[in-house]
Amino acid sequence: MEMDNKIIDESIQGQVLKFETKNTSGKKLFLESYGCQMNFSDSEIVASILTEKGFSMTQNFEEADLIFINTCAIRENAELRVRNRLNDFKRVKKKNPKLLVGVLGCMAERLKSQFLEQEKLVDIVVGPDSYRDLPNLIEEAEDGHKAINVILSKEETYADLTPLRLGSNGVSAFISIMRGCDNMCSFCVVPFTRGRERSRDPDSIIAEAKDVFNNGYKEVTLLGQNVDSYLWSGGGLKKENLSSEQQAAATNFAQLLEKVALISPQLRVRFSTSHPKDMTDDVLHMVAKHTNICNYIHLPVQSGSSRILEMMNRGYTREWYLDRMAAINRIIPNCGISTDIITGFCSETEEDHQQTISLMKEIKYDYAYMFSYSERPKTLAERKYKDDVAEAVKKRRLAEIIELQRMNSGIKTLLGIGQVHEVLVEGFSKKSNEMLMGRNSQNTVVVFPKQNYKKGDYVNILAKSCTTSTLIGEPV
Ligand code: SAH
Ligand code: SF4
Ligand code: F3S
Repeated sequence: MEMDNKIIDESIQGQVLKFETKNTSGKKLFLESYGCQMNFSDSEIVASILTEKGFSMTQNFEEADLIFINTCAIRENAELRVRNRLNDFKRVKKKNPKLLVGVLGCMAERLKSQFLEQEKLVDIVVGPDSYRDLPNLIEEAEDGHKAINVILSKEETYADLTPLRLGSNGVSAFISIMRGCDNMCSFCVVPFTRGRERSRDPDSIIAEAKDVFNNGYKEVTLLGQNVDSYLWSGGGLKKENLSSEQQAAATNFAQLLEKVALISPQLRVRFSTSHPKDMTDDVLHMVAKHTNICNYIHLPVQSGSSRILEMMNRGYTREWYLDRMAAINRIIPNCGISTDIITGFCSETEEDHQQTISLMKEIKYDYAYMFSYSERPKTLAERKYKDDVAEAVKKRRLAEIIELQRMNSGIKTLLGIGQVHEVLVEGFSKKSNEMLMGRNSQNTVVVFPKQNYKKGDYVNILAKSCTTSTLIGEPV
């Protein structure tokens, strides 16, 4: 079995989203994005707002009139990566003093005006809820002023804007169904950078999903920091502030899932992220009920130790999490499961670490995103606890869980051999234009000979061999 290292830190991988704009006369915008899927989704909103204003997109920052970098603040290395990137842009600005550089997203929100003081080259700073203000801010900056808007909103969902599907494979689209987060996990900066949780009008979500389907897309992924707390009651009120009649009339996540699934059996539906404390059996039953809702759940555990989970303010114990896992296995047989894990959180002992290892052995995740703890300013953990696990210990524990996960992924992939998988084709495989790649319902990548199949087709593939994380097979 070939071992391919798939353990990547998405928050430090920049992506320039490709989009060919018809308009090539206007000013050129270079837009690079870091961080989670929600940030990429936001970049599609930014591109939509600015191309409406006559900007064209470029993939070469050397020829841009305007450079925007959409940033992530989740871990320190995510921010360091952005600082380095700003240095690259500095060179270009020396040659072209009229070039404007803007910082968007979570790091902009976290640092606010500090950014303008620390990084002299930055002209524009914009938080995630202020993108409608971009055209004004750009004008201000063109007039030679530093421009900033980092106001967070309780209502903004950009519901009425149609994102420009940047860098998309034309098969799979991401749709934000809510913004912000109210959970206050003690390690996490997101509540500070993205503000209060708010749900988006389901009618606008359905309209967007129908629109992408009509444009040839075959899969939508519904995005939120905690999709299980999605609730739309008209006024955007939280559950605890609703009367019982209002609650009965509101749309919850399970109901939203069904509405999207009913658009067409040819449209696959995925969602991320589920939260163990809020994921109900209703949602699981809905996944089981509709074959086009994929059998795949991303359920971040963070730690296998109840003591650490309590300090993380995650709102569940190890036992609760295992109970949710049992519910998944009972209600959705053959469900793909992935997770997020942090090693070396404040006060984590060897015993706590072993608890994480034993949980991973018990669950055998198909895939895991693993990180060592990075203290973030202003978070509860930064204020209350000491970041007292030595860097070398954090890294060693991280290496141990990565190794274990690599074995688990390998075993999970092997189990797919000999089975027939319904694969939605996303494009050519990385290694050869004679091979196509796609995913099965469980989100495992499947590669097979092209024959006469093409992007967007559903093909039944009998898996015959595999690498650690990819199945290889033949159409049947
Ligand atoms: N809303 C999602 C996660 C969003 S952030 C959830 O609740 O699970 C994605 C992942 O980054 C988290 O699940 C966590 O594992 C990791 N992460 C967040 N803050 C971190 C920090 N300070 N140090 C290391 N990893 C962190
Ligand atoms: Fe961060 Fe927790 Fe919210 Fe996820 S649920 S975004 S980890 S505060
Ligand atoms: Fe990063 Fe912000 Fe997403 S901090 S992970 S880009 S919500």
